[in-house]
Amino acid sequence: LEARYMAAIEAAGDVPALEEVRVAALGKKGEVSLKMRDLGAMSPEERKVFGPALNGLKDRLTSAIEAKKSALEADALNAALASERVDITLPAARAPKGSLHPVSQVMEELAVIFADMGFAVAEGPDVEDDFHNFTALNFPADHPARDTHDTFFMEKGEDGTAKLLRTHTSPVQIRTLMNSEPPVRIIAPGRVYRCDWDQTHTPMFHQVEGLVIDKDTHMGHLKGCLIDFIAAFFETDEVEVRFRPHHFPFTEPSAEMDVRYERVGDAVKVGSGDKWLEILGCGMVHPNVIKACGLDPDVYQGFAFGMGVDRLAMLKYGMSDLRPFFEPDPRWLSHYGFSP
Ligand code: PHE
Repeated sequence: LEARYMAAIEAAGDVPALEEVRVAALGKKGEVSLKMRDLGAMSPEERKVFGPALNGLKDRLTSAIEAKKSALEADALNAALASERVDITLPAARAPKGSLHPVSQVMEELAVIFADMGFAVAEGPDVEDDFHNFTALNFPADHPARDTHDTFFMEKGEDGTAKLLRTHTSPVQIRTLMNSEPPVRIIAPGRVYRCDWDQTHTPMFHQVEGLVIDKDTHMGHLKGCLIDFIAAFFETDEVEVRFRPHHFPFTEPSAEMDVRYERVGDAVKVGSGDKWLEILGCGMVHPNVIKACGLDPDVYQGFAFGMGVDRLAMLKYGMSDLRPFFEPDPRWLSHYGFSP
């Protein structure tokens, strides 16, 4: 009997089959249980022999069943684990991934380069007033210089004056100087607006303004700073620049800085060639600007510059047209390596 049940337990292939064996042997009407019931009808002598024998059998079968059950459950768990295994070496599905716009990337590069030279970052609003955008920057009232900026004006407010979209980042010079004590050394990156549209002009574009005000700052500092900047930005000393005399109401003397470049097929290449692209305006801050900000121009001087970020991006990445920067076409961006 024992051998038969032990063999059946061993042969059970899964938990339900094992349960059947248990019921057949030890269930209420199981073979072993029925035999135990027979004990009652036996003589005391017989019971002394069969009682312990049957109890021993029952215990051995019970523990054999328990052991088999644990083994079957462990097998079932291992099988489930094996069938649900994830192959972590399979390549993951690639989701299209965005990236920073080239103009944003260049803005960040500029901030890093100027941070290395000790410039902090300042900001001002896109919607400006006439005072900060023009008057405090020494633009004479009703002077034609205001027209050259092709200003977008807002509707007149209650007080009869019209706000405007800043035409350059220079108003941040005023906001900074009115709110801080020299020495001042800041850059001001941001969007600017002019009513203009062609291959190298868009109605919204980006500038980074620079302003240094201290007691002994001179034109040599201005040139050195910008030449160092160009070498850092293009990662070479080979890019040739030239300073051309110019006029701005808020600087005296004033200059524009150009970068030498050439056209190669559809692209532009900096450093060689017979063409020059204007990338920034600069000069020594006009005494009237320093005065308008409540400082003494006999004590403080300095220089300022305002560069076209989009044009710098164009030169750095060899693009020949500015306008696609503002037509968000992923194919064009990926062509220049800006998205996967
Ligand atoms: N604000 C000038 C422009 O937009 C650039 C400039 C800035 C020139 C600072 C001189 C000094 O054209």
